[in-house]
Formats: sequence, structure tokens, C-alpha cells
Amino acid sequence: MYVGRSPSIRQAMAGHSLITTVKYVAGTRPAFHLSEIIPYLDDPVSVDEIYRIISPELPRLGLTAKKTGDDVEISRVLPGPAYILNDREQKRIDTFLAGREIPVTLAEAIERYITKKAAKDWNDPTVIERLRKAITAQKDDYWKPSHKRSLRYTKGYRVLGYLAYHFPVYFMQTEHLLAGLARDGLLKKSMTILDVGTGPGVVPLAIADLWSRLDGARAAVYSIERSEEHIEAFLSLRDAFVPRGGPVSIKPPVKADMLEPLPSTLPEKFDLIIFSNVLNELPESPVETQAGIVERITERLAPEGTVLIIEPADEDNSTRMRTLTAELHQRGIFIHAPCSFIRGTPCTAPRCWSFTTAPVIRPTRLMEALARCEESYRYVNIDIKYSYAMLRKDGVRRDGYRVSPGSKFLRLSKLHSAVEKRVNVAVVKMSGELGDVKNHLFKVCDGTAKTPVYAVLPAFHMTPGNEALRSAPYGTVLEMRGVLVRYNKAHDAYNLLVSRNTEIQIPGADDQ
Ligand SMILES: C[S@@+](CC[C@H](N)C(=O)[O-])C[C@H]1O[C@@H](n2cnc3c(N)ncnc32)[C@H](O)[C@@H]1O
Repeated sequence: MYVGRSPSIRQAMAGHSLITTVKYVAGTRPAFHLSEIIPYLDDPVSVDEIYRIISPELPRLGLTAKKTGDDVEISRVLPGPAYILNDREQKRIDTFLAGREIPVTLAEAIERYITKKAAKDWNDPTVIERLRKAITAQKDDYWKPSHKRSLRYTKGYRVLGYLAYHFPVYFMQTEHLLAGLARDGLLKKSMTILDVGTGPGVVPLAIADLWSRLDGARAAVYSIERSEEHIEAFLSLRDAFVPRGGPVSIKPPVKADMLEPLPSTLPEKFDLIIFSNVLNELPESPVETQAGIVERITERLAPEGTVLIIEPADEDNSTRMRTLTAELHQRGIFIHAPCSFIRGTPCTAPRCWSFTTAPVIRPTRLMEALARCEESYRYVNIDIKYSYAMLRKDGVRRDGYRVSPGSKFLRLSKLHSAVEKRVNVAVVKMSGELGDVKNHLFKVCDGTAKTPVYAVLPAFHMTPGNEALRSAPYGTVLEMRGVLVRYNKAHDAYNLLVSRNTEIQIPGADDQ
């Protein structure tokens, strides 16, 4: 296979460096030989010399090389098949998540880092008191309107406070999300990953930890971060926790601002791009501007890649994130999960507050030390509650279910016409438990309603026929037959009352 010699190719190559030439030619055909580019170089260079220069750059360019006689064939790395967990891997992951605590080596690495930075033992009373102050200041700042927040991690104790208070929960939260990606078949045997606004490396370290439970998966993890204090903490924790030469290579974070173009040293394409708790730190701006920032970074997503956005579960951040992902969906970065678009309509919900939960974590030794004071609850952060969205460019949804045109399910946008009547609906479960032991309450959605809709299941009405509402995971499609429609004026919402006569099914569950 030979490179064409048309004037346009010659022009395009003229003056370009060797690497740019290789990149250009690779963009015109899936494979070529290095000998083919020699005629286009200003000075004659041997195949061996070209290979020596370009080989370190090949992974970044998404290319691979194969020796063929005296030549070298360069080809694009094709997307690999999904990495499917085997039973042993699944069991290891489940056992780790059931333990509900961050690995001891990591907790100890955090303690050692605090000791080093504070120049005193991590559990020295003065250090503990300063950490408490830093945590309180950070929390006060968080609840200010975004234009008044100073979320700049420039001072040492800000980052130490983050390590003590936020890190453990965000680490375990990431492990739950990564396990979800694995279960959904969104991991590959070999992946290139970008973490945007990595902070002290919560996401990369969780990736290294989860991958350590996989038998044959590898990953190269890149990240950007603007705070030098965070980068210093990240490198220290990485060196203490991630084995060199292991399945995950964590590259040093690049100091960069996500508002600027991505640094040229980063790979061309990523299989997974993660924004974890970072988009809420962008300066206050219209959703279109924020979508533009994510869209620009997502230009570097591989065709079969996934974007994972995670934000805190509070109403403000959570609803802003849903508006953002609905905007991205319009721009061709389609929501894969948790929304399922079961009616095939675009999301029209003006304010969607949807989040999920995972079991509380066990407090670290450091958190327990912080909590030995009068207002201990201020320093213990163990609840996992978050809003997330997985997005892809190929339009594949996690749940391919669509309500069939002739079905007898009422659209949620038509509930106003059925108040006090019993109806059948097909919905997606869009929250964890919002109720209590007496009345289970879950947000549900079919993508059509502008008014929020909740399913209510009084505990004394629970039967084997309707308990799927309670037990099904977040994001599951449910067919509900015989729910009573009520309008809740105080909250401008509709409630679907489930009784012991209501049948709730997960479509396809009986076929498995
Ligand atoms: C709340 S922390 C989240 C850290 C980590 N991703 C996690 O989930 O724990 C937000 C991080 O984003 C970084 N950040 C905020 N705005 C940024 C920007 N414009 N460019 C790069 N990093 C940014 C902050 O410095 C901080 O480390």
C-alpha cells in the first residue's frame, strides 16, 4: 500500500515534522509502511531511524507498529472487544466493595503525607485541630454561590483537609462507578484514560486499585490539574500505593487549566474521560458554555469511548449536571446511562434532581481522630451519594428497552388526565430510597414529563409482585400495572401509589 503522490498530500506534508507526517498519513489510511514516507522527507532518513524517532510517540497517536522484513508497518489501534469480568474478578470486586473501606496502605499513605507536610505527627492535636478548621472552611465555601467560592487549592491545609474528609468517600464512590462500567462492558483490555481536575488523584488511584482485581486488563491513566498542592499530594500517594510495572501506569498529572486546549503532550485519543466533582468548580456560566468546554475535551474521545461525569448529589449541583448532559445529548454526545429514553423522545425535564447511593463507608483512623471532639458529626464523611452520567458518541444506551407503539402504558406527560385513576406506566427508576421504613419513595421518569413523578410504596402494601420497585437498582426500567395517580399540590409533583394489587416487572427479567 503506497501513499498517493497528489499535490495536496505533498503540500500537506511540506514543512511538517516526521511525527506530523506519520500522523497525517495514518489519518488517510488504516495501515502503511514507513518506507512509503521516505520520499516526502526533506532529508533521506532510513526506516530504522524513522522508527527510532517515532516509536515513543505511537501510543499517544493511537498507532501500533509491526516489523515486516526490512520495513515497519504502522497501523491504527482498533477498538478492542469489551473486557468482560469473569466470576473470580466479579467476586473480588464484590468482596472489596462489601468491606466498605479504602485500602489500609492508602489510608496510611495519606497519614504519612500529612505528617510530612505538617512536619508533625498526623495525629498530633495541633495538626488535627488545623485539619478540622480546613474542613470547616472548605464546607462553608462549598455552600456559597459559585461566584463567591474560592475553591482554589493553593494552601497546604486545604489539600490535607480534602485528603482527610473527601478523599475516602470519593475513592469508594469511584470504585462503585468503575465496577458499574465493568459490569456494563464499557472497559477494554487495554485502555487510555483521562481524568480532568484530578485533585490528589482520587480517580487514578481508584483505577489502579480496581484493576489490581482484574486478571488481564491494563490501563494508562493521564490527568490534568491546576493546583500544584494537589499535584504534589497525588504524586506522593501514587508512589506509595501504586506498584511500578503493574497493570496500571499512572502518568504524572499535567498542570493545566481545563478551560484551555488540552496540553499537546497528552495522547490523541482516550477510551474513557472522567470529570469527577470538577464541573461544579467551573466559573458560573450558561449551560451552553459549560457544554462547550466538555465538548472540546470530548473531541479526544475514541469512537467507542465513554465520558463519565460525576457531581455531588445536592439539588443545585445535581440538577445543573442533568441540564448539562441533556445539552451534550443534543450535541451528539449521547447519554448512555442512567437515563434510558424509553419513549425515544429527548429529555424535556426542566429541573431533574436524580442521584444514587451506595452503602456508607467505614471511617478511616484519621476521620475517627478528627471526630474526637464535641461536634464530631462535622468531620465524619461516610455517606456515598452522587449524580452521574455516562455518555458516548455511538448512541448506545445501557438499556435498549423502548416502549412499543401499541402498548397500553400511559405517558407520564399525560398523568394530569388520569388523576385518581389506576393506570399502567413504563418508567425508569431514577433515585435511591427517598422515603422511610413506612413509605418507600422513588423518583421515576419516562423522559416525557416536565413535572416530577414519584412512585410511593407503603411498606404494608409490599408483595413479591411489586417489591421490584424497592429492590431494582438505580436506572432499571420498570413496567408498573395498576398504580393510582395522585397530584401533590404542595410539591407540584405526581405520585404513583403502589398497592398490593399493583404488578411491577423488569422487562426481560423472566427471560434470563
Ligand atoms: C473537588 S476537586 C475533585 C478532585 C477529584 N476529581 C475528585 O473527584 O476527588 C476539584 C478539582 O478540580 C480542579 N479544578 C477546578 N477547576 C479546574 C480547571 N479549570 N482546570 C483544571 N483543574 C481544575 C481543582 O483544583 C480540584 O483539584
